Amino acid sequence: MTQNLKTVSSLKGRDFLTLAAFSNDEIDTFLKQAFDLKQLQKKGEPHACLSGQTLAMIFEKSSTRTRVSFEVGMYQLGGSALFLSSRDIQLGRGEPIADTAKVLSRYVDGIMIRTFAHEKVEAFAESADIPVINGLTDTHHPTQVLADLLTVYEHKGQLKGLKACFIGDGYNNMAHSLLEGAAAVGMDLAVASPKGYEPDQDILAAAEKRAEGNGCKVGFTYSPQEAAEGADIVITDVWASMGEEAEKEKRLRDFQGFEVNESLTGLAKEDYIFLHCLPAHRGEEVAASVIDGPHSVVFDEAENRLHAHKAILKCLMEKN
Ligand code: CP
Ligand code: NVA
Repeated sequence: MTQNLKTVSSLKGRDFLTLAAFSNDEIDTFLKQAFDLKQLQKKGEPHACLSGQTLAMIFEKSSTRTRVSFEVGMYQLGGSALFLSSRDIQLGRGEPIADTAKVLSRYVDGIMIRTFAHEKVEAFAESADIPVINGLTDTHHPTQVLADLLTVYEHKGQLKGLKACFIGDGYNNMAHSLLEGAAAVGMDLAVASPKGYEPDQDILAAAEKRAEGNGCKVGFTYSPQEAAEGADIVITDVWASMGEEAEKEKRLRDFQGFEVNESLTGLAKEDYIFLHCLPAHRGEEVAASVIDGPHSVVFDEAENRLHAHKAILKCLMEKN
């Protein structure tokens, strides 16, 4: 077993709701464990540290990557996972969150939940006696950003000192978690959005403060060109997130000029990499020539969900 795969007592039993909740060292630990678990998996060496354990996965929104990677991740760590659609469990018929969390805590060892309001995940964590993992809320997508950081590290060999930009909806889950993640690892991040789509002021202010302490700079601009200038990493996401489908036409108009296309990426460094959490809309937030082009690492990024999730599961749920 490699050095990095030792049990980390400060993470055992914790919830994983936002990246802001973890110290710089703890985020570094998740990334190192993800890296090592990936190498072991590639060598075909199983790491069954969650043998006999079960993860319940509650989905109130659709998912391909999160669902499959958490389920396969649990299996690869020697445990199992239960897919629970909110349509089929009593939560969807109004059973209180607190009761659901307490009941599940008697059967399983961890809960992953994807839902709308972030407060719902917080309420779940409050009532559950076992680790609760945020698999995406309207305002945070921390498991995705951990995988993004792993992907950047693999392609660039460093995180600290790099310059990233996120061009898209500054108020969405990806923008917020990227602000929190970049600030924690010492990476510059410029978020660029149209008027009316600025990041949450509290999340931005907290990330700016943390970045300052870590020797980097995160911030907001209305200019996608300014954000992309000299970037090592160019990131975007859908303009209308899950739950915002009714606003799609308005958003298509509001985001004109924010498509990540070759005239924008032409401002980035020559060896920039392109990230998108997927699913993507070619011809809207990103041009096909960019997402399907030589700088795109979106499928490495999607694969890294598996390795990042295994690290999270191991760190929170390992018993000894
Ligand atoms: N990126 C991401 O979370 O994908 P899914 O919605 O398919 O889980
Ligand atoms: N911002 C997107 C991310 C999807 C993984 C959404 O919430 O729909």
